[in-house]
Amino acid sequence: MDGRTIAPGQTTTPMNLAVLGAQWGDEGKGKVVDLLTPNFDIVARYQGGHNAGHTVYVNGRKFVLRLIPSGMLHPGVTCVIGNGVVVDPTALFAEIDELAHAGIDVTNRLFVSDKAHLILPYHRDLDLLSEARRGERKIGTTSRGIGPAYEDKIARRGIRVGDLADPAGLEKNIRDNVNARNRLVHDSTMEVEPVLATLLDQARRLLPLARDVSLMLNDAMRAGRRIMFEGAQGTLLDIDHGTYPYVTSSNATIGGACTGLGVGPRAIGAVVGVVKAYTTRVGEGPLPTELSDDMGQRLRDSGNEYGAVTGRPRRCGWYDAVAVRYGARINGLDALALTKLDVLDGLERIDICTSYRCGGKTLTEFPSDVAQLAACEPVYESMPGWTSPTKGARRYDELPEAARRYVARLEEISGVPAAIISTGSDRGETILRQDVIAAKLGSLVLKTGD
Ligand code: GDP
Ligand code: IMO
Ligand code: MG
Repeated sequence: MDGRTIAPGQTTTPMNLAVLGAQWGDEGKGKVVDLLTPNFDIVARYQGGHNAGHTVYVNGRKFVLRLIPSGMLHPGVTCVIGNGVVVDPTALFAEIDELAHAGIDVTNRLFVSDKAHLILPYHRDLDLLSEARRGERKIGTTSRGIGPAYEDKIARRGIRVGDLADPAGLEKNIRDNVNARNRLVHDSTMEVEPVLATLLDQARRLLPLARDVSLMLNDAMRAGRRIMFEGAQGTLLDIDHGTYPYVTSSNATIGGACTGLGVGPRAIGAVVGVVKAYTTRVGEGPLPTELSDDMGQRLRDSGNEYGAVTGRPRRCGWYDAVAVRYGARINGLDALALTKLDVLDGLERIDICTSYRCGGKTLTEFPSDVAQLAACEPVYESMPGWTSPTKGARRYDELPEAARRYVARLEEISGVPAAIISTGSDRGETILRQDVIAAKLGSLVLKTGD
């Protein structure tokens, strides 16, 4: 019997993998998910919305996935958007059309949870307004309406994909919501009818994609199909475990995979944390290792650290092992996928933050309080850099010795081994460490997209 044939009553072995960000987002999740997709039948997004920008390069061709899972470039793979995701129909259709234009057909392989909440035009307005009202304390959001849509969800007045099937109920809900918004926003006279008309028009295209995603995934698992859970944003942007309030409005950490898709914890066979070989952050909030000097600019330039969604320059700094160790704890990481090692090529010296100095004390654990984090100074240890390039390396023993030492030190102080090391943005520019994979991910990761 092959591993995929399940006898009646036999329980399935967990064969699924979660891939999520273990820093402040933009770690390279898109590349890693795309690379590993050939091992899976389904790729599922569980939270966030089109604030995500997951970049995938295939033979030099660039794709940026926002709402659609990064497995979509592989023909035959099914992609699902879970109930934990907030969906802007306009953004979703634009992305589907962009893919179609690039020759990628999503028909019959893209599905959206009927329980996913919708981002409506007034959410985008409220996002901008809320940022303006916060003034100096602004979050630096992507202004996609993400926070306000999740606010409506939690306040139990949100509109879900499945609600589009009931035009009468929908009209009442939209009317209540638009009126509430008009009361909230001074001088606002938003009309109900255009919002409703657009939505009813969009319903014709969205409803055929709607599914009970929990049922779909659990049926698929029972049939022995493999699923990859794709996180958006990163651990330090998580609404609960991130640097609150400078966070996004969803659970980017592993728990979000269960609540955001309707699968049990044992569905998750292993968890891979994607981390950059240094640190970046977009938007406001503390970043202990931030470099505001020439070295910060050097990392930004070599790493092309400009937002995939908003084009904003990313703040850059050295690798923060305190933050990654925290990410390992929160997510129960089995392995790391270490990306952008090549960006450090040619540096004479590379620093690693091993602890924080705060109020005369040394902290080795990531603090809960954002004000305390903001007051922390990073404590660095310095390692020698390397002169010969790592760019494009495909084997661990191809790496210069100093690069191998750097990776080993990151693994040691982060407390998690690196199963994957990325040395460039293309699929092929990757080192798969079969020993770590065998020890930590079992048979989960066998083939790559190369
Ligand atoms: P995501 O949001 O986590 O998917 O990451 P983004 O796509 O926002 O940002 C990562 C950027 O780094 C993208 O432009 C990728 O193409 C690029 N990238 C990924 N891995 C590597 C790598 O190993 N080396 C280099 N130089 N670029 C990489
Ligand atoms: P991916 O999936 C990096 C940041 C924003 C802002 C904060 C809240 O590509 O890693 P929001 O619009 O979500 O309310 O903004 O979160 N942010 C991201 N930063 N990568 C992302 O996604 C992000 N999505 C949101 O910059 O600081
Ligand atoms: Mg991104």
